[in-house]
Amino acid sequence: MNILITGASSGIGEELAKRYSKDENRLFLVARSCEKLNALKKSLKNVETLCIDLSNLEEATRVGEELSSKNLDLIILNAGVSLGHNSQELPPLEDFTNLFNINFLSNHAVLQPLEKGLKERGGKIVFISSLASIFTMPTSIAYSSSKRALNSYADGLRLSLKPYGVEVVNILPGFIETPLTDKNRFKMPFLMSLKEGVDRIESGIDKGVHTLIFPKRFYIIIKLLSLLPLKLKSRLINRRLPSNG
Ligand SMILES: NC(=O)c1ccc[n+]([C@@H]2O[C@H](COP(=O)([O-])OP(=O)(O)OC[C@H]3O[C@@H](n4cnc5c(N)ncnc54)[C@H](OP(=O)(O)O)[C@@H]3O)[C@@H](O)[C@H]2O)c1
Repeated sequence: MNILITGASSGIGEELAKRYSKDENRLFLVARSCEKLNALKKSLKNVETLCIDLSNLEEATRVGEELSSKNLDLIILNAGVSLGHNSQELPPLEDFTNLFNINFLSNHAVLQPLEKGLKERGGKIVFISSLASIFTMPTSIAYSSSKRALNSYADGLRLSLKPYGVEVVNILPGFIETPLTDKNRFKMPFLMSLKEGVDRIESGIDKGVHTLIFPKRFYIIIKLLSLLPLKLKSRLINRRLPSNG
């Protein structure tokens, strides 16, 4: 298979790159850090790297354009950032825009030039969303909004591409140990090791499930929380959060 993985320089993306590195696969790895990508290129098989800042949507479009002739079979759109969970103040517009560009709009920028080829040949597109898209904490409004937008995009794209034999897999993981979660200063419920998290992601991709949400127990708790009356929900949530001051 010809496989594109964005955000392949660390965490989930790097682990997926290691797993998909096989004689029969050709990998195209995208991230900002050339150094980390080049180290992967040296240690893995059949790797090409693109050092790109996906927050720049022209650059992101260039990724799709450059790879449109590569007959991609599997496109894993994994790159993402979080602003942390440390403040209840709304983030500055610049940070919000940057996050939205990386977590959401860059996916469209990469995919749009690939649409024609995908419709001709079929293929599989994978989004790495988050359980945070199901319930928005006051400390993660930007992150959760970007991932919920991604869910909506994935749903529409799945319907749009189904007649062409293109599968769309949307994955909503809970907390997984990576550099992204290392900076969280609170106890993360149901935190999983990178290996366990990527085992589940890889199996979801292989099976071609539409939407994979895990861990299930955390999902049920979040779902129940979201159904509570606002007054009770606000009391429960706000007493566990850092104050604005
Ligand atoms: N870890 C979790 O608990 C968890 C849970 C749910 C969902 N997710 C999602 O899983 C995905 C991967 O996260 P992770 O936990 O593996 O985090 P991570 O270790 O911080 O990896 C994030 C990846 O995204 C790349 N990236 C960030 N900004 C970029 C930019 N502007 N341009 C290009 N690449 C960029 C990073 O590479 P460079 O820094 O080199 O650019 C890195 O390779 C994200 O979408 C995240 O939202 C994670």
